Amino acid sequence: MAFFAHLLSFLFQSLGSMVSKWTLLICLITLLIVKCVKYIQLQTRLPPGPWGVPFFGMLPFIKKEFHLTLFDLKEKYGKIFQLCMGQTPIVVISDHNIIKKAFAKGELAARPKTVFSDILGGYGVINIEGALWKSQRSFLHKQKFGMKHWGAGSNQMEARVSQEVHYLLNSILAEKKSPFNPETILNCAISNVICSIVMSTRFHHDDPKFQRFMYLFNEGFRLFTTTGPMIFLPILKHYPGSQDTIEQIKNNRDEMLEFVRYIIQDHRDTLNPEAPRDLVDSYLMEMEQAKEEGRDVFPECKDTETQLEQIILDLFSAGVETLKTTMQWAILHMLRNPEVCRKVQAELEQVVGKHRLPTLADMPDLHYTKASIYEVMRRSTVVPTAVTHATTRTVEIEGHLIPKDSHVIPFLHGVHMDPELWDQPEEFRPERFINEEGKVQKPKHFMPFGAGQRMCLGDSLAEMELQLFFSSLLHVYDLEYPSETPLPSLRGVAGVTVSPQSFEMSFVPRNVEALIISNAKSQSSKEAWSKHVRVFGAMYG
Ligand code: HEM
Repeated sequence: MAFFAHLLSFLFQSLGSMVSKWTLLICLITLLIVKCVKYIQLQTRLPPGPWGVPFFGMLPFIKKEFHLTLFDLKEKYGKIFQLCMGQTPIVVISDHNIIKKAFAKGELAARPKTVFSDILGGYGVINIEGALWKSQRSFLHKQKFGMKHWGAGSNQMEARVSQEVHYLLNSILAEKKSPFNPETILNCAISNVICSIVMSTRFHHDDPKFQRFMYLFNEGFRLFTTTGPMIFLPILKHYPGSQDTIEQIKNNRDEMLEFVRYIIQDHRDTLNPEAPRDLVDSYLMEMEQAKEEGRDVFPECKDTETQLEQIILDLFSAGVETLKTTMQWAILHMLRNPEVCRKVQAELEQVVGKHRLPTLADMPDLHYTKASIYEVMRRSTVVPTAVTHATTRTVEIEGHLIPKDSHVIPFLHGVHMDPELWDQPEEFRPERFINEEGKVQKPKHFMPFGAGQRMCLGDSLAEMELQLFFSSLLHVYDLEYPSETPLPSLRGVAGVTVSPQSFEMSFVPRNVEALIISNAKSQSSKEAWSKHVRVFGAMYG
């Protein structure tokens, strides 16, 4: 108030001679009223939601997994609601139509500024925004993650994925222990797809370099989840324990970057512009071309070398954990629903036969198999809250105002478990994805990859991988669970993704002939690209 009184007296003194004091007073009061009305309008037009407590917001009330808490709040407050986590307002949208409309807007395409984004320094693709983000999405898309050099179509991607399918099936055959936890071999196979496409590298799962790299990644994910409270209460950043976590994340990242830098240097030393191999080559050639043309490589990019390093780590983070977790869920759902598993295997036998492995060309006829994969992705949405978005300015959604810098969540788990959209959503029923003509069909409200401008960039690759890995596994093996122990629940463990509790199971050969014939064929037709793939660690076979 004292400030206002001083301001008024200053204005009266300095402007008093030009306009009357009354006019000035009326102007100021009008300004104040407009401000108040705007504030009240904003408050009354915010989405509904729980109040929480001052300073901490809803933080003290989160008693179970975040996505399950949001599900309860959605039941109470509806399909668009807001909650405060610490000082941060978070808007949660769980209506598929609103999600599609809202996330198509550029104003919702930003990412929140957090301790983690500070560490990444504005590089990569997942955690950046603006012109650099746009250019990276378009570059990665045009380059097909580096596979563009090998010709049009998806043949090259399929070849890389199929190679890893072979290695996975062979590793299972060679596995001495039964039952065993399939997580490590799945992780290795799926990591190798990204490694092969992005940087022409693959690892054997016993290789110490691979094990260290995966340890650092998983540890990075674990530490990242512990930074949650720091995001919502930035003051926590200054506590010594938080500083240790931040230091640890930085150190792990530096160690991963050492390996990434080694790969980039190796590519630089061996690059043949006439025969580029992968995504790293695509970036190196783009850098060279920009230098020759005297232009910036990418807009708003301070350092292209760091950008390339972070892109490699981003694709690894986005493309491995999500797929490995989906495959783990797929195995678990098949173990829980043996009648579904048998139907998938019967379809595979009918369409593919016993003498080869499934290929992409079979997929248009594998309706039930594809429907089962989609049902896995719906029932166990691995990224239930997608990746949080942020608003670049105040935006209006469905009559509600969402202030600038709010966090916004497309609540995919909320959509996938909505009883208005899916009859008895808790149940596992692939038939939901089969239409009246018996063909597989995705409903509009199926959105495991999110929607809008920031929708998953690897959706086609991910679907291809799931189709080839899942169908080949079930074609060659029966899945068995040791009957003494109860099967893990479907609730899962929430981290960066929601994954099943670890479990051990057995793969029992049912059609190894298909694998042996495929092995013989792939040995005799070693393709040009496979010569470029650098292998770390002993290989199977
Ligand atoms: C089952 C597998 C996968 C699922 C369920 C999945 C899901 C998602 C979701 C929900 C998002 C966030 C969308 C948003 O911000 O609203 C996302 C982002 C992203 N995904 Fe995936 N993803 C999968 C596999 C992959 C693969 C294989 C890649 C490629 C290597 C990939 C690359 C990306 C990238 C680069 C982004 C960030 C896009 C951006 O910020 O503009 N994903 N994914």
